[in-house]
Amino acid sequence: MDGNPNGPNRRALLRTGLLAGGVGIGAGVAGVAATRRDEPAITHASDGVMAGPVGDAAVLPFRGPRQRGVTDEPQPFAAFVGLDLPKGATRETCRRLLHVWTDDIERLMGARAPLTDLEPELASVPSRLSVTVAVGPGFHDAAGLSRVRPAWLAPLPRFSIDRFEPDWPQTDLLLQIRADSPVAVAHAQRRLVVGAEPLAELRWVQRGFREPLTASRPGLPFRNQFGQVDGTVQPATDGANDSLIWLGAGQEPAPHGLENGSSLVIRRIAMDMESWDRVDRLSRENAVGRRLDSGAPLTGRVETDLPDLGATDELGFPVIDAASHVRRAMPAAPQERILRAPYSFDDAPEPGRRTNTGLLFVAFQADPVRQFVPIQARLAEADLMNIWTTPVASGVYAVLPGAQPGEDLGAVLLA
Ligand code: HEM
Repeated sequence: MDGNPNGPNRRALLRTGLLAGGVGIGAGVAGVAATRRDEPAITHASDGVMAGPVGDAAVLPFRGPRQRGVTDEPQPFAAFVGLDLPKGATRETCRRLLHVWTDDIERLMGARAPLTDLEPELASVPSRLSVTVAVGPGFHDAAGLSRVRPAWLAPLPRFSIDRFEPDWPQTDLLLQIRADSPVAVAHAQRRLVVGAEPLAELRWVQRGFREPLTASRPGLPFRNQFGQVDGTVQPATDGANDSLIWLGAGQEPAPHGLENGSSLVIRRIAMDMESWDRVDRLSRENAVGRRLDSGAPLTGRVETDLPDLGATDELGFPVIDAASHVRRAMPAAPQERILRAPYSFDDAPEPGRRTNTGLLFVAFQADPVRQFVPIQARLAEADLMNIWTTPVASGVYAVLPGAQPGEDLGAVLLA
């Protein structure tokens, strides 16, 4: 890892700093199990609720200058929820919506039920829930703010590999809901969608999952559905790379009302598991440029080794293929770095198909046009992984700044 131009990766930090928290949680769970073993083997459906919060680690604070869910280690379960403002929406519609959501999200993240919650018990089990609110290009139009919309808050250019399907269009709003428990995600999603009506209408939901279940198995890498270790090379999230991630943290002034926000690009990428099944292991490793077992570059020993792009084999061919995914995705300029937080999906296949699998590719960056687009353009031009992967949807959103005490989300933008 030393000498890596991208700085320490997030998983390494997790293994060191955050591992301590993980062990704490694990020990807590083991403690509960030990107590239970000495007691009569009777449990009650209300045990979890009665037990109350399992500790601060299970509740992420909602209030602050920046929203959660950007630089936090991604929780294992997620829903990405696309909504549109109703026809005729105004700035007042946007204000009222964010007022309702601010209160509901503060409660949900604090393991307290929103006021209108008919299943309050579902809200009361802390599970590191984070809800991140982001807005699409249409939000600025409705709010009469088109003039101050950042130039990057627009659909990405169309790439030659894109095969968009109509089910997941760009929306005016996006909720990213993540938690350690799928129950918490489903409950928060329902409350926030119901709570938003009629100020916003649901368009689509994309669900994802990822390992490790951080509390029980800290330090395990995330592997996507191709079995690849995914998330090795990332900008460190210790503050050193704030200008790459957060708006207003670098030289450029933040766009109006978005200081301490970010941008979120989501790409739904179908993975053709059936043709991948026919590919031998060496070709699979060649396509990405890394080993499948350890995630190490093909020229290295361990995951954190730097790839040696000049290395050649006995026939003089590059060991790391010129069209391999990592070689094509590497930054060609210092600003071409993004914080990836992808989730796998594995939905029910349509009749006659065996799989409906892929990656919800999610990236945070201060400016998608300068940081994300050049990488995606290179990958569209040549990337061996394109043989088995197809982007079927794409969206660009501005992550709102956090809500300070007494303030609603989007307060400065909508003032
Ligand atoms: C299904 C689609 C994709 C899969 C399965 C995939 C998988 C991977 C894997 C296994 C790695 C190597 C380990 C790592 O550093 O995380 C990687 C690296 C990377 N990927 Fe992807 N990826 C996909 C799509 C994308 C897209 C759409 C982008 C951006 C446009 C992207 C950007 C990157 C970057 C920036 C790296 C790090 C490159 C480096 O500096 O070494 N990937 N990806």
